[in-house]
Parts: sequence; C-alpha cells; structure tokens
Amino acid sequence: MNKTAIITGVTGQDGSYLSDLLIDKGYTVIGTYRRSVSDFSNKTQNVSHLLDNRNFILEEADVTDSASLYRLVHEYQPDEYYNLAAQSHVGTSFKTPVSTTEINLMGCLYALEAIRLQKPACKFYQASTSEMFGDNTRCPQGIDTTFSPVSPYACAKLAAHHMVGTYRKSYGIFASSGILFNHESPRRGENFVTRKITKAAARINLGLQKELRLGNLSAQRDWGHAADFVRGMWMMLQHEKADDFVLATGRTNSVQKFLEYVFAFAGLEIKDHVIIDPKFYRPCEVPKLWGNPDKAIIELGWSPECDFEELAFEMYEEDLRREKEKLNKTDNPDV
Ligand code: NAP
Ligand code: GDD
Repeated sequence: MNKTAIITGVTGQDGSYLSDLLIDKGYTVIGTYRRSVSDFSNKTQNVSHLLDNRNFILEEADVTDSASLYRLVHEYQPDEYYNLAAQSHVGTSFKTPVSTTEINLMGCLYALEAIRLQKPACKFYQASTSEMFGDNTRCPQGIDTTFSPVSPYACAKLAAHHMVGTYRKSYGIFASSGILFNHESPRRGENFVTRKITKAAARINLGLQKELRLGNLSAQRDWGHAADFVRGMWMMLQHEKADDFVLATGRTNSVQKFLEYVFAFAGLEIKDHVIIDPKFYRPCEVPKLWGNPDKAIIELGWSPECDFEELAFEMYEEDLRREKEKLNKTDNPDV
C-alpha cells in the first residue's frame, strides 16, 4: 500500500521539494497551507506544478491551532508527518518573538500530541536547525556540539528539539530531528540573503533595479541545496531507529563570498550597487556556521550533491530567467 505523509508548511521551500520527492516515491502527500489575503496562486507558487496531481492534497491548517492538526491526523491516519511549518526568518523573530515561539514550539508539540493520541505508529520529522548552535563558534558543529541559541527563533526551535527527544523517550514515538544547516534554492523566500542577492543581481543586470541594501556581510554559513536536504529528511524516517542527525555540506562561506560569486556571474561591480544598511543587522548575530554531517553520511548513507558554486549559479540563472519572463509579459500583455 502506498504511504501517506502530512507535510506542514508545504508552500515553503522545503515543503515543495519534499512533496516532489515523496510523490515520485508513490506517496500521497497531504500538504498544509495557511489562509492569507494574498492571492492563492502567489501563495502556492512553489507547488503550482503539483496542484493537479491526484496524489497531492492541499489542506488548510494552522499549526498554532491544535484542532486543525488533530483533525488532519484523525482523518488521514498518516504513516509519516513532516513538521516543516515555521516562522523561519531569524531577523523577523526579534520583531515577533511571541508568535514565532507559538508557531515554532507549540506547532511541534500539538503535532506530537495529535500523533500520540491518534496514530502513535506515525513517524515524525522535526525541522531543527543549526541556528541552535548560535554563538558557539567551535567548528565544525556536529551532533555533540553544545547549543547556544541567540534569537527567539533559535530558542523556540531548541525547545521543540528537546520536546521531540522527550516524546521519543517517554512514549516510544518514532520522532527524529534533523539539525539542518542553511539550504537554499530558486524556491527560497526572497528575504533570505542568498535569494535577495540573486534576485537583485538579475534585476540590476536587466536595468530594473540600481542598488542592493544588505546587513552583515562577514557572517559565515554552510550553504547547501534544499533538494539534497529534503532527501536527508526522508532518509531519517526510513532509518531503523529514531534519532537526531546533522545535515550540512561541511564547507563554510561568508555572505561577502556569495555576493562576489553572484555579482561575478552577472558581470557587476559590488561597489557600484551594494549599500550596507544597519536596518538589516540583527540585535544578536550567529557569526559562523560550519557543519559536520559525518553521522548522517555513515548511518544514513546521505551526502549532498550540489556544491556552493553550482547553487549560487542555479539561483542566479533562475532569477534572471524569471525576471526576463516578467519583462516579456509586460511588453506583450496578450502573450
Ligand atoms: P519557509 O520557506 O519559510 O516555509 C515555511 C512554511 O511554514 C511556509 O509555507 C509558511 O506558510 C508555513 N507556516 C508559517 N507559519 C505557519 C503556521 N502558523 N501554520 C501553518 N503553516 C505555517 O521555510 P523552509 O526554508 O522551507 O524551512 C522549512 C523548515 O525547516 C522550517 O521549520 C525552518 O525553520 C527549518 N529550517 C530551514 C533551514 C533552511 O536553511 N531553509 C535550515 C534549518 C531549518 P506562510 O507562507 O503562510 O507563512
Ligand atoms: N536575511 C538577510 N537579509 N540576511 C542578511 C542580510 C539581509 O539583507 N544581510 C546580511 N545578512 C546575513 C544575516 O545577518 C545572516 O548572518 C546571514 O546573512 C544569513 O541570513 P539568512 O539568509 O536570513 O539566513 P539565517 O542563517 O539567518 O537563517 C536561515 O538558516 C537557518 C539555519 O542555519 C533560515 O533558513 C532559518 O530558518 C534556518 O534555521
């Protein structure tokens, strides 16, 4: 029998790649989205290619509404549940600390309770994060590195991470956490730094924008491709036992380096367009993330395929293509 998986946050970057992967493997995917006033096609653009697929079912739910999660688990009796929904922007979490905590912590707890009470055999994946290492710059950061969160986002994620371990130990639920380092793609939200840079470079190249305002360029991140990382999520739930794993590429680069790569592809000079704007600095910064994925490589057989340079190039090329397409539509409104 084909498996059924619930994915919360399916309209986000990871939810959409994970849906592609699971549907390819014959799963039925129940993907949740949140109602908003923005138009539906905009909201669902990352999964627009799946909307007519009969193995992909979109359900309205909010992870801070426990009843909506209970209803879904009751109705679909899933084999796997991927808790990807989050207020995922670290900078924003300083401005909305309470709702960030409700979504990122309580959304996890409500799901665990729904599973415990209604389908204890359902396997659970929690989207934990390298942000939990915070200002502990002992590198590379691996499964035994001490957590030291420095944002409301990371504090809520760390509490959820411990909740997952607690439900695993207390109730024997197959609940695993993936501590994932940054992963990006052309489906990345536009206010994360990589996508902000690739989109701006494409628009500057086409004469649609003049400047790009950024914050701290010296921060270092271990950047991989989202398609590789969702494969790791799935592998965690196929493993013989529930556990925690780190997924990372094992390489780190600065924001400055990412900017240099992309501007070189675009044939642009950084000094002509980039302005440092204090507005984009955070009250507390995570200076350096560099992961050690050895446990996932050895125990799961996972490894990332896309490297930093390919990732930056793919994102820039796709933004350039999209911006050109928009321009063509404006020039030829009847096409
Ligand atoms: P994303 O693109 O920001 O997607 C997050 C999704 O969660 C969106 O679909 C969002 O929908 C939804 N959501 C937010 N609040 C919700 C609520 N109250 N109820 C239901 N859905 C809600 O994030 P991502 O990059 O795909 O990341 C997926 C998960 O992995 C997140 O939990 C993130 O914190 C974690 N993570 C990401 C990375 C990374 O580098 N990408 C690394 C480590 C961990 P709306 O459009 O309605 O807001
Ligand atoms: N967003 C943003 N915008 N970040 C900027 C900017 C800017 O204009 N200028 C500099 N930065 C710096 C940030 O201060 C940070 O050090 C770095 O660029 C990366 O920022 P983001 O792309 O917003 O990602 P993040 O590392 O804070 O968080 C992402 O990765 C985490 C895993 O480590 C998110 O995906 C989180 O959800 C995820 O948990």
